[in-house]
Amino acid sequence: MPVSIALLPGDGIGPEVVAAARTVLEAVATRRGEPFEFSTHAIGASALKAGGPALPPDTLDACRRAHAVLLGAVGDPTFDHLPPAERPEGGLLALRRGLGVYANLRPARLWPGFEDAGPLRPEVARGADLLIVRELTGGLYFGEPRGIDHEAGVAFNTMRYTTGEIERIARVAFDAARRRRKQVTSVDKANVLETSQLWRSVVTRVAAEYPDVTLNHMYVDACAMVLITAPARFDVVLTENLFGDILSDEAAVLPGSIGLLPSASLGDGPGLYEPVHGSAPDIAGRDMANPVGAIASASLLLRHSLGLVAEADAVDAAVEGALRAGHRTADLRGSSPVLGCKAMTEKIVERL
Ligand code: NAD
Ligand code: IPM
Ligand code: MN
Repeated sequence: MPVSIALLPGDGIGPEVVAAARTVLEAVATRRGEPFEFSTHAIGASALKAGGPALPPDTLDACRRAHAVLLGAVGDPTFDHLPPAERPEGGLLALRRGLGVYANLRPARLWPGFEDAGPLRPEVARGADLLIVRELTGGLYFGEPRGIDHEAGVAFNTMRYTTGEIERIARVAFDAARRRRKQVTSVDKANVLETSQLWRSVVTRVAAEYPDVTLNHMYVDACAMVLITAPARFDVVLTENLFGDILSDEAAVLPGSIGLLPSASLGDGPGLYEPVHGSAPDIAGRDMANPVGAIASASLLLRHSLGLVAEADAVDAAVEGALRAGHRTADLRGSSPVLGCKAMTEKIVERL
């Protein structure tokens, strides 16, 4: 059976970076002599504009049938007035929930030699290499009750976690730490929130199954500070949905641009792969987007969903090689001429 990959380009720069990632996957398939079977589906504002919901049922069905899903980005200011569930972003949340991808892996590292690429002083940023393990299908994003009562002038959301939800994401983090530097920092707000108190006690209990991994706990406010004052202190950062959303954008300052960060969202079925960045309406349609976040997400897809480890390593090496050669898009600092999304992709593909 050929490997089937569902592509969800979405909105803004989504179609540009998904096209880039597809080019890379096609090059990988050519080298292997076995083509991947791609299908393309609507999500987000592009689905709304076509008259459907932000996650059309056909799209979810196709994603469930695929071996893996690669998404660009969703979001369009035209729809900012809609209630959360009807917005483009609601389509992405429904997809994550529909696929049951509860474990979101967001690696962020500063490549040696790239200490000047980001805004931090080189001596602060040096050695940063961390993996954020973000719980993705629970917490405030999905908790009920939720709502807004315009007449009464009150709105509410519910942060809710069950023991089972915390246990399974904790195991993902401890397993990942075993393949890395064997340290987990669990990030919570246990000095204020009951959900965080349960989180801390469950994570501590799961840690006992991993005597070879060191666990420490940190409050999210302190973590936000240490992340940019001493980022090399972290190996695996385990945290709930909203904290992980915020901390992963912050972690983008380490490599130098949010356009570089990939993610993998895993559950029991097909994996969902997406760059961490959004639809970037300010640069959409101008061939200016950095394709690396999407290409690195395609590499995670090869690694985690298809088991093509050598191919994933080759893609990572091609990305690093292109950056080391000085090739860069407008979001990255440097002295060499600025490349567009397509030209940057070519520099990566030619190194495969
Ligand atoms: P954003 O990530 O889209 O953009 C933030 C800044 O980073 C912008 O200046 C943008 O130009 C820049 N940027 C982002 N990706 C880049 C890339 N690949 N190359 C170069 N520069 C890049 O975040 P935002 O502006 O807060 O949100 C815009 C829209 O995207 C909103 O509708 C938001 O809800 C949505 N969003 C979607 C996702 C997703 O689909 N996973 C993630 C975040 C935000
Ligand atoms: C992300 C995004 C999404 C999130 C939005 C678009 C729903 O910010 O993937 O980081 O909040 O999870
Ligand atoms: Mn985010």
